[in-house]
Amino acid sequence: MTDTPKLTDPFQRRINYLRVSVTDRCDFRCVYCMSENMAFLPKKELLTLEELDRMCSAFISQGVEKLRITGGEPLVRRGIMEFFNAMGRHLDSGALKELTLTTNGSQLRRFARDLYAFGMRRVNISLDTLDEAKFADITRWGRLAQVLDGIDAAQEAGLRVKINAVALKGTNEDELETIVNWCAEQDMDLTFIEVMPMGDVGNEDRLDQYWSLKDLRSRLEKSWSLTDIAENTGGPARYTRVNETGQKIGFITPLTHNFCESCNRVRLTCTGQLFQCLGQEDEADLRKVLRDNPGDDPPLITAIHAAIARKPKGHDFDYSRQAVDGQMSRHMSHTGG
Ligand code: 5AD
Ligand code: SF4
Repeated sequence: MTDTPKLTDPFQRRINYLRVSVTDRCDFRCVYCMSENMAFLPKKELLTLEELDRMCSAFISQGVEKLRITGGEPLVRRGIMEFFNAMGRHLDSGALKELTLTTNGSQLRRFARDLYAFGMRRVNISLDTLDEAKFADITRWGRLAQVLDGIDAAQEAGLRVKINAVALKGTNEDELETIVNWCAEQDMDLTFIEVMPMGDVGNEDRLDQYWSLKDLRSRLEKSWSLTDIAENTGGPARYTRVNETGQKIGFITPLTHNFCESCNRVRLTCTGQLFQCLGQEDEADLRKVLRDNPGDDPPLITAIHAAIARKPKGHDFDYSRQAVDGQMSRHMSHTGG
């Protein structure tokens, strides 16, 4: 048996984690993610399901062991379950260690059982509030009851659930303890995410919503005692343990640079652009390579290696002085969260 080639960037970081956005569309319109009247990409711009398979399989052949499917909302993409089913073969072969999903939960009642059957074991579900009215405000189009039902469906199917909650000043500030307790009761992991300067340039609202996780953490310490966990997953999350409940809570502070040194991931957009770093504009057009070389993977694999060789050392977000420097002009729904 030959060794699987390993993707390594110029800073000796092993790249074994690929996040793939499979659609820019969503059945919600979260205020920090999308505008109300989003213009979505024409279908021909998107990678087809077959192209997604080819792309992911190429990365897996080069040592990617963890695949996370994002959006938009991945489960609103027509036929996406065929893709999950197809990726199951890489889990069976052992090349892929984990297939996961980031979802808003709205379609899980329909799909959770199949996802489990295809080999998925964990899902991240985005949920910022347990209050129906606030949920409607944040997501504009979402219904809380449907998401809660989706979460039940996921757990019934055997999927381990992690809740991702964006910390929003003045919105879910007063629910902090409620959310922590709810996750503990339901045996779900929980990660808080600092709101990021993505999307509409000049949108001042996002600064008003900004609630630093340092602050949030201090709030938690008024109710519980916390012990930090040294574990490093190669991502932006830092973890702490709540001693009273035993639960693990993650903090994702994308505006700090503290995780870049151990970054193990790259992102593929739904149009086949590879972003080596969430905070940089440099990208590689893998769709072009893929479409120019039908049925011929070596050029694609060469392009993947060339792109990883350009992965930057770190990113450049900065909220200091109330100005959003390093502001990204693309929406999260395009790059994937
Ligand atoms: N800041 C922080 N998190 C965001 N998400 C979407 N937009 C933003 C933003 N501007 C999150 C969602 C979800 C994940 C896919 O990305 O809430 O948890
Ligand atoms: Fe959809 Fe997630 Fe964006 Fe909300 S944050 S609009 S659920 S993609």
